[in-house]
Amino acid sequence: MKIIAITNHKGGSAKTTTTVNLAAALAELGRRVLVVDLDPQGSATQWLGMALGDRPVLDAYLGRGDVTHLVTATTAPDVDIVPATYYLVAADRQQETAIALGVIRALERLPANWDYVLIDCPPSHSSLAVAPLAVAPYVLVPVEARVLALAGIASLMGTMDSVRERLNPDLKLAGVIASRVNRTRHSREVVDRLRESFAGLVFDTVVRDSISLAEAPSFQLPITRYAPAGAGAEDFRAVADELLHREQHAAEWAVPVVDKVTRPRVLLPSTRAAGAALPR
Ligand SMILES: Nc1ncnc2c1ncn2[C@@H]1O[C@H](COP(=O)(O)OP(=O)(O)OP(=O)(O)O)[C@@H](O)[C@H]1O
Ligand SMILES: [Mg+2]
Repeated sequence: MKIIAITNHKGGSAKTTTTVNLAAALAELGRRVLVVDLDPQGSATQWLGMALGDRPVLDAYLGRGDVTHLVTATTAPDVDIVPATYYLVAADRQQETAIALGVIRALERLPANWDYVLIDCPPSHSSLAVAPLAVAPYVLVPVEARVLALAGIASLMGTMDSVRERLNPDLKLAGVIASRVNRTRHSREVVDRLRESFAGLVFDTVVRDSISLAEAPSFQLPITRYAPAGAGAEDFRAVADELLHREQHAAEWAVPVVDKVTRPRVLLPSTRAAGAALPR
């Protein structure tokens, strides 16, 4: 069972779109997938046709119940989910820490019933966003192909460094996925810049901008069911294929760890600010 946190501090960077549709595409390839929705907004939960969880979800994360009992099937065949709940929004700082620790404990204790556990992380630097990184050996980072999106990824690398130092030395960046890619020069430049900075860690597959992907949540279906012959489904099937391929062809899926020495400098495209490094 491989636990992959799908994360990016920046809001609206296609985390949920990637979680839901990669899960469905992996399931089409015969893999059993569990989605853990840690975003109190519950976008993945609702996209996959489920109601937001209630107080019992919070109780389970706080150790007063078993998270596994909350797992339900979804509108995507062979994709299960632990739903999110608004109650994950911590009432105070003390509770925030308790919830984060509870999430770590719950993820550590998940039974190995699935091939992949994909965690849809909330945006921001909250402890709820960082908690999965303490457990998940792998991080996948969707990045919107817009220049402002590059700043978020630089700060995420800093968070990963801290988590490696303090909580989880084995945390690895499994890949960066360029999303919402269109035909503009700007979009192409951002993808080029990502490839310069992260080299082989950037997936060959890019996810194109697609109306169907934006529409699919309203129909509570993953793209592989909502528009199975369209560009969005094609792209996420290719992402799933590439993930499996990378896994098979890297020793122990040992995609290089981006550490302090090798950490790439994420640069702005030259059209905006030649060679200017973004803040870390
Ligand atoms: N490839 C795409 N084509 C068209 N629209 C997309 C694509 N990817 C994402 N979007 C749209 O971009 C917006 C943000 O995507 P999404 O909700 O997946 O991001 P997120 O990182 O999960 O956001 P949040 O930080 O709020 O959780 C949504 O409106 C979504 O429909
Ligand atoms: Mg989201």
